[in-house]
Amino acid sequence: MSEKSTGLDNRTIGVIGAGHIGTAVIGGLVRAKLTSPKNITASRRTTNNLDEIARTLGIHTTNDNRKVAKSSDILILAVKPMNARDVMTEIKDLITPQHIIISVMAGIKTSFISSYLGVQCPVIRTMPNTPVLVDAGATAISKGEFATEEHLKLTHDIFRSVGSVETVPENLLDAVTGLSGSGPAYIYMVIEAMTDGGVKMGIPRQIAFRLAAQTVFGASKLVIETGKHPAILKDEVTTPGGTAIAAVHELETHGLRTMLINAVSTATVRSKELSKIIEADETL
Ligand SMILES: NC(=O)c1ccc[n+]([C@@H]2O[C@H](COP(=O)([O-])OP(=O)(O)OC[C@H]3O[C@@H](n4cnc5c(N)ncnc54)[C@H](OP(=O)(O)O)[C@@H]3O)[C@@H](O)[C@H]2O)c1
Repeated sequence: MSEKSTGLDNRTIGVIGAGHIGTAVIGGLVRAKLTSPKNITASRRTTNNLDEIARTLGIHTTNDNRKVAKSSDILILAVKPMNARDVMTEIKDLITPQHIIISVMAGIKTSFISSYLGVQCPVIRTMPNTPVLVDAGATAISKGEFATEEHLKLTHDIFRSVGSVETVPENLLDAVTGLSGSGPAYIYMVIEAMTDGGVKMGIPRQIAFRLAAQTVFGASKLVIETGKHPAILKDEVTTPGGTAIAAVHELETHGLRTMLINAVSTATVRSKELSKIIEADETL
């Protein structure tokens, strides 16, 4: 297997917190052949799945976070925010300015990680979403004070293996949480509701469900692949006097767009609140 040429070179990668997101990122790296699986070591507290992850992905696994920190040039922190302080306390004496820290932990600022670790090493903060599990994630990345464009590029390469990547200033990550981080929940509700609409009109549920999900997938693909403004694509499917424009009128009457704008801004405000709670909380 030949690896693709990236900033990863032969650098070793450690993932502390081999849960959903951590394992998805490892899977992406391995499938995209960005590095040899032998360069990757992952840990979690329990032995759950560790043998299976090692067997299926060909990486090293352990319960020893210190072993991961010691053996990795790039360290991905993928535990829940409430476990962050424990993990950072455990490994901080092993962290050097040469380590590159990538965090997927929601709500924890790069400045907090740097000062907690007490080392001026580069920290990149990321906000992925759950479609990274199927290599269709939307991830935003931001660099902290000691990180460079090269570190951003490297993080971009890693997360590109599980979907699309946008670089934003760190102060926008709460808004990203409100948009793409939480967004899958909004779309699942859309799929569920459209399915119910189909069922109401007599379509068997499983067929309605597949039609609804594929419609959301196909519409997204068309937006992304054509690069056309969604309003133009909407105009293209609304025949004068036809069915779609009648439904669009119904959606406008109930304020669909206002509801979604409000959903993103409400989730953004909540993300800011949680971030403050997380950093102030001694149990973090
Ligand atoms: N899920 C999302 O949509 C999403 C989106 C963006 C960002 N994030 C962030 O991604 C992070 C991970 O989320 P997730 O959904 O992947 O959670 P998850 O599936 O619960 O994974 C967390 C992992 O951390 C491990 N862990 C906990 N304490 C540990 C410790 N002291 N040492 C080593 N490993 C430890 C857990 O292992 P054990 O189970 O063995 O304890 C588990 O494997 C979170 O910080 C979250 O904020 C999630």
